Amino acid sequence: MSEPRLTHPIRAAVVTLSDKASAGLRADSSGPLLVELLRGLGAKVAEAIVVPDDRQRIEETLKDLSDSGQYDLVLTTGGTGLAPRDHTPEATLAVADRLAPGFAEAMRSASLALTPHAMLSRAVSAVRKQTLIINMPGSPKACREHFAVIAPVLAHAVETLRGEAYECGSQEAR
Ligand code: MTE
Repeated sequence: MSEPRLTHPIRAAVVTLSDKASAGLRADSSGPLLVELLRGLGAKVAEAIVVPDDRQRIEETLKDLSDSGQYDLVLTTGGTGLAPRDHTPEATLAVADRLAPGFAEAMRSASLALTPHAMLSRAVSAVRKQTLIINMPGSPKACREHFAVIAPVLAHAVETLRGEAYECGSQEAR
């Protein structure tokens, strides 16, 4: 498989959804972990943004990041479960222009081989403008496991989003 050649590195943002972390009651460990993992892939990424589990606030944050035109990718962590304050999937779908379900499907499927608790995540993946938004659960362990699934695909995902992938079929193993 030939490697995608991005004209410039993936520009990414990480958003941690947590009432406790945003109130300073708990340190955010998943956000910094995702930042580190993205940087390991060569992505350009600032420190994680921490937002409370408030649906309106999540929507505003995702809109601001996508509409700025400065990000190819936004990874969220937290708020995907069944708890009353878990709103991340709904907020993501509310701001989405297009669905991109393959990322969430692949992460959930791979996670089910690791833990039956994967069923509890309602994570979604979608596109707003030219930004791909992917939800991940809140625990650092789950983030690491999810990231391993999507990492091999991110560069090609971004080049297609940017309209830079002109010979998509040639990327496939034949
Ligand atoms: N997926 C993986 N790969 N590994 C995990 O440890 N934890 C699950 C699930 N998905 C887990 C996982 C658990 S326990 C929950 S409650 C849901 O993700 C939702 O997590 P969140 O509410 O922190 O987003």
